[in-house]
Amino acid sequence: MKNKFSLPQISVSILNSDLCNIKEVVKTLEQLKINFIHLDVMDGHFVPNLTFGIPVVKCIRSYTERFLDVHLMIDNPIEYIKEYINSQPNILTFHYEAVKSKNEILRIVETIKKAKILAGISIKPTTPVKKIFPYLNHIDLVLVMTVEPGFGGQKILSNCLNKISVLREHRDKHKLNFIISADGGINEHNIREILSLGCDLPVVGNAIFGSSDISKKIKLFRTLTLK
Ligand code: DX5
Ligand code: ZN
Repeated sequence: MKNKFSLPQISVSILNSDLCNIKEVVKTLEQLKINFIHLDVMDGHFVPNLTFGIPVVKCIRSYTERFLDVHLMIDNPIEYIKEYINSQPNILTFHYEAVKSKNEILRIVETIKKAKILAGISIKPTTPVKKIFPYLNHIDLVLVMTVEPGFGGQKILSNCLNKISVLREHRDKHKLNFIISADGGINEHNIREILSLGCDLPVVGNAIFGSSDISKKIKLFRTLTLK
């Protein structure tokens, strides 16, 4: 992917968009030249909120070729991973906290990568970043949660930001290749700091869809994301 798109750039979360008109939302993002669309799958168990699942991801896939960046906030991802693979996302990220053993993590990652999809692992704000160090040579992306997962439009938890620099240092030191993404509470005021810490793919949702002029906001984020 690094060859296909130059990073950094934003991945736009549609969670706080007009979900009755997802097709229109995706079309608008395409017109505004957004390459990454972040889809927040929530099961009402792993997080206290429920959004959409496999049929909706499949449906979105059928009308866009943009990168679908699927964030699974679900319990027991190993049980559903093949179905999500069938919905043909480009990035498939599961939560470290939702998996029972090291072996299970490696099996999920292997299954995703075999399907030529990028395998991501996400950590909640209270999970120490060192917990995922043993997997970093296998995975393609780390999604650092900068809010408690479950809802869009929350305030960023600044004590999570240091995980981004730790990951960046670790990646450089061990010559690894994973993408560093961050999710939750990112806006036009803090995105520069997040990028400067080493984030390649900041997820932005409410700062765009909570605005009265989506196009202007996206252009602003594009300017702010340029190196
Ligand atoms: C939260 C989700 C995020 C969220 C984006 O559980 O994973 O993707 O929608 O955050 P905001 O809306 O704060 O940009
Ligand atoms: Zn997300």
